[in-house]
Amino acid sequence: MKYVTTLAAVTGLTALLNAVPAAAADTEMVYQFYCAQCHGSTGKGDGPNVTKDFPVSPRNFTDAAEMNKLSNADVKNVILDGGPSVSKSPMMPPWGKTLTEEEVDGLVQYLRVICACEGKQG
Ligand code: HEC
Repeated sequence: MKYVTTLAAVTGLTALLNAVPAAAADTEMVYQFYCAQCHGSTGKGDGPNVTKDFPVSPRNFTDAAEMNKLSNADVKNVILDGGPSVSKSPMMPPWGKTLTEEEVDGLVQYLRVICACEGKQG
C-alpha cells in the first residue's frame, strides 16, 4: 500500500512538472538574451542598445499592422539570415549560426504572441 501511495505521489509530481510549458519558458529566455537589447523586453523596439545613431529602429513587435505584413516564413528568414537577406538593415543581425532552428521557430511563435496577430497568410 505504501508503494502505491509513493507511486501516486511521484506520478502527480511528474504531471505537475509537465504542466509547466518548458519550451515557452526557454523561448522567453532566448528572446530576453538575444533580442531584447534592441527590440525591448516587451517588444516595443526600445531596447537599451538602441541609440539615436541607429539608422533604423528595431521593429516594434507590438505593432500588429506592421507584423501582419510578414508571414511566419518571412519572420523566420529574417531571424536566420538577418536584415540584408530581406533588403532590410544590417542592424538586424543574422542568428542562424547562434540559434537552433527550434529556437527560431519558438521565437516566431513568441513574436506572434507579442503582436497578437497571425501574420500574412501563405
Ligand atoms: C543589434 C540590434 C538587434 C538585435 C540584437 C535584434 N534585432 Fe531584430 N531588428 C533590428 C533592426 C534595426 C530591425 C529593423 C530593420 C529594418 O527595418 O531595416 C530589426 C528587424 C527585425 C524584424 C522585422 C524584419 C522585417 O522584415 O520587418 C524581426 C522579425 C526581428 N528583427 C527579429 C529579431 C529577433 C527574433 C531577434 C533576437 C534573436 C532580433 N531581432 C535581434 C535590430 C536588432
